[in-house]
Amino acid sequence: MDKMEFSMVFFAMLVMCSTSNAQRVASPPTFSPTPAPAPAPEYVNLTDLLTVAGPFHTFLSYLQSTKVLDTFQSQANNTDEGITIFVPKDDAFKSQKKPSLSNLKQDQLKQLILYHALPHYYSLADFKNLSQGGPVITFAAGDYTLNFTDDSGTIHLNSGWTRTKVSSSVHSTHPVAVYQVDKILLPESIFGTDIPPVPAPAPAPDVTPTADSPSKASDTTGSSPNSSTPSSSQRIINWGVWTQLALAVSGWLVVLFL
Ligand SMILES: *[C@@H]1O[C@H](CO)[C@@H](O)[C@H](O)[C@H]1NC(C)=O
Ligand SMILES: *[C@@H]1O[C@H](CO)[C@@H](O)[C@H](O)[C@H]1NC(C)=O
Ligand SMILES: *[C@@H]1O[C@H](CO)[C@@H](O)[C@H](O)[C@H]1NC(C)=O
Ligand SMILES: *[C@@H]1O[C@H](CO)[C@@H](O)[C@H](O)[C@H]1NC(C)=O
Ligand SMILES: *[C@@H]1O[C@H](CO)[C@@H](O)[C@H](O)[C@H]1NC(C)=O
Repeated sequence: MDKMEFSMVFFAMLVMCSTSNAQRVASPPTFSPTPAPAPAPEYVNLTDLLTVAGPFHTFLSYLQSTKVLDTFQSQANNTDEGITIFVPKDDAFKSQKKPSLSNLKQDQLKQLILYHALPHYYSLADFKNLSQGGPVITFAAGDYTLNFTDDSGTIHLNSGWTRTKVSSSVHSTHPVAVYQVDKILLPESIFGTDIPPVPAPAPAPDVTPTADSPSKASDTTGSSPNSSTPSSSQRIINWGVWTQLALAVSGWLVVLFL
């Protein structure tokens, strides 16, 4: 009885080892799980995007208070044309003194925010083309246009009152492009054509803002899962070692029994 029990255990062990071993042989080492291609995100939540990047809180709150957010989000959701949005950082709103935004009526404010977008998706490369043509019509339509210039690779926007550069890309995947700009775009259609002469270009201060802006934004997605791959292959190797060990022990038992 003692012997029988032992042999049954032994038999069970043998079966276990051989099946697990067979399994191991049968399925070749597939321990390099090909990184599953992330499905293209269909829906871009603009609120989410502008909350995470930036800081763009001021622009976002204007988007919400004027309800332009719904217009932009709907364009992003439902059109193949897509949308391109130029977003000034919070700093730009803080430093805006001369024509003050606080005197604007609600419908002017709405036009101002609409003016910060184009009813079409443009990649950074597309701006070179835009700069070859004339004024570009914005979401505010009518004579709310922007001029693009390509100054040896740097794209500048000119609204008459504002000349600023596209300083970084926050998101640029069809149908939604969001770019950071250094200043609020002030259209002549709101602020008139009586534009004060631009003070002689100060050489120094333009350098400092460049340092922090261009690099940081675009790494919102990326960063592949790092840890899972090695641990799963590690487990397979361990299992293999265990099986070998069990086989060796059972082989030794066979010798004992015979
Ligand atoms: C978009 O994102 C905001 C902020 O994360 C969230 O409150 C809102 O529910 C989201 N909207 C949709 C439709 O998922
Ligand atoms: C955009 O699409 C999302 C997800 O389908 C939806 O929840 C949201 O209400 C839509 N927003 C607009 C303005 O169409
Ligand atoms: C840019 O313009 C050239 C001609 O001026 C045209 O061939 C090309 O397709 C345009 N590219 C885009 C992305 O619009
Ligand atoms: C934009 O460019 C057009 C010519 O293409 C020019 O007439 C107009 O004055 C420019 N507007 C601004 C704001 O620079
Ligand atoms: C990948 O994992 C290693 C070791 O766990 C860690 O040191 C490294 O920072 C990780 N890299 C990323 C991009 O998560």
